[in-house]
Order: sequence, then C-alpha cells, then structure tokens
Amino acid sequence: MVKKTSSIKSSEITPESVYFNRRKFVQAAIAGGTLMAAGSACSRKIAMADVSSDANSTPDLKGVVPSSFSTDAAPNSWQDITTYNNFYEFGLGKDDPVNNVGSFNPEPWSVEVSGEAELIGKFAFEDILKPHALEERIYRLRCVEAWSMVIPWVGISLGDVLKRFKPTSKARYVEFKTLEDPKQMPGQRRAVLDWPYVEGLTIAEAMNPLAILAVGLYGKELPKQNGAPLRLVVPWKYGFKSIKSIVSIRFTEKKPRNTWFVSAPREYGFYANVNPEVDHPRWSQAKERPIGQGLFAKKIPTQMFNGYAEEVASLYDGLNLRKNF
Ligand code: MTE
Repeated sequence: MVKKTSSIKSSEITPESVYFNRRKFVQAAIAGGTLMAAGSACSRKIAMADVSSDANSTPDLKGVVPSSFSTDAAPNSWQDITTYNNFYEFGLGKDDPVNNVGSFNPEPWSVEVSGEAELIGKFAFEDILKPHALEERIYRLRCVEAWSMVIPWVGISLGDVLKRFKPTSKARYVEFKTLEDPKQMPGQRRAVLDWPYVEGLTIAEAMNPLAILAVGLYGKELPKQNGAPLRLVVPWKYGFKSIKSIVSIRFTEKKPRNTWFVSAPREYGFYANVNPEVDHPRWSQAKERPIGQGLFAKKIPTQMFNGYAEEVASLYDGLNLRKNF
C-alpha cells in the first residue's frame, strides 16, 4: 500500500486462564484424532527441504489435507512469502516485518467474539481451531499494489468457524481487528494508520467457502510476519482485506469502517474485489508483477475476482462494481 455454532458447547469453551501449549495441543490432537486424520500429509510439499533449513522456519502442522479450491499455479518460495510482506504494525518496508517481529509473541492467543451472535466471549486460539480440518489452499494473493504471489496456505473454513457462534438475523457484516500493542508491534508507535487495523466482510462473503482463516503455510505454522497465529485469507479480494493476527471478531448490523477506507476513502473501498477494469486512482489494476521472478519479469494480466468469478460473482449481482470498489 502507498500512504501518500452450529455448536460450540459450553464444555468446549476454555476459560481465558486455561490455555494449551500450542505445540503440545497439535500433538495431542493428532494422538486423539481431533484433527481430521489424513492418509497423507499435504500432497504438495514443494520446496519443503529449503523450508526446514531456513532460519525463519516454523514447526510442522500435522494432518493437513489438500483442497480442491487450490490453483494449479506454482507456489512462490518460502523465502519470498516470508520476507516480502505488508504488515504495517512492523514497519512500512517489505522486509521490515521479518526483521521486526522479534518482540511479537503470539502465544498464548485468544479471540474476542462479540456483537450479533448467540455465543459470544473470549475463546482460546486452540478452541477455535479444534473441531476443524486443516486444509491446504494454494491461492494467488493479489496485492492492491499490483504485485502477486502464489501461497500454499493452511487454513480452516471461515464460514464453518463463524457458524459455531450462531450469528443472529441482525448480523449483516463481520468485523475483524488485529492486536493493538505498540510494545510488541513497533510500527504502531507511529500513527501511519488508525490502529488497530480493522477489516470487514458482508456475512455472505464471510460464509463463501473460499474464505479461510489461515494458521499456516507450506504445511508449517504461520510465521509471525505472515500474521501468526491466525489471519484472514479472502482470495478474490485485494490483499489488504486479508487481515493478520486477529484478536477480535464482531458480528454487526452496520458496515465496518475498514482501516484503508478510513485512511484514503477515494483509493480503497470496502469491497476491494480484484477487478482489472477498475483502476486505482494512481495506477492501473489491469496487470500484476509476479514476485520472485526478478524485477524485469513480464507482468501478467489480472483476472476478474482474481480468477474466482464463477464462485463469487453472484455475491455482487446488481451492485455497480465501479462505485462499490
Ligand atoms: N494485516 C494487518 N494487520 N496489517 C497490515 O499492514 N497488510 C495487508 C494484509 N493484512 C496488513 C494486513 C496487505 S496490504 C497485504 S498485501 C497482505 O496482508 C500481505 O500478506 P502477506 O505479507 O502474508 O503476503
């Protein structure tokens, strides 16, 4: 960016004070069969050898199953995905996040669920994860800055998680917030954005099966610079919608005021659907530069809804996508 339930039973809810150690939890869950037993771990362990020898590597996630929603495009390397980041809480440069996440501790972690839902409260990260299958979803991330990467996320269905909180009929939107803690997030000591980072989706967007909460990439736990321990991934929207390190989920009647809209309303809208036909006021969105192929790599055409028109176009029937950018 350029700055000019159906059922969470009460027995399943862990009081705020009782947390699993995350690593132990993952192992215990596998032993107990809590996570979906996969015949094989994720099938596409591209460049895994490189990953485990990387200083930046994180522990393996077990029981990851491939998803039919994945693109066939070849993923970027672990190195590209974990060292070229946008995470303004750690600075504005692409290599600031990897260099400045040292003081960020995403363990233990909990998420406050509030607003228009029957089940609200503070939930441990592990309890949010527990009943869901971990899936590998290889998606292209198309940044509003007109570059893109292909990322083998590991995640859980956002809609399945949200349904467990039983949203009421008044819940028309879902708002997400990132942690606000300038001690851990040095970028928040400067007012470059209105902290904490906020994003939102309509309830129909949030329930679309393509939307996930990511907890890993390349079969490993999410590195801090990619939004540990859980972040949104909405593949048909510009990357800024995919909010990192989420601590709050709120079901609302009113449209949430997302951070980039608040910062520059003429440039960044609420919808932010990938759309090669609607330019950013200061640059074209028709093409994108694939990261990892050198500075002089040929740009590739950007696809409507980032290639997912068939799955999501109907969400916007009757909406003028030039006005609702
Ligand atoms: N979430 C928070 N909290 N802060 C941010 O600065 N940047 C967004 C998004 N989520 C951002 C964020 C932008 S602009 C992009 S392109 C993606 O994260 C980048 O995700 P990645 O670094 O994992 O590739």
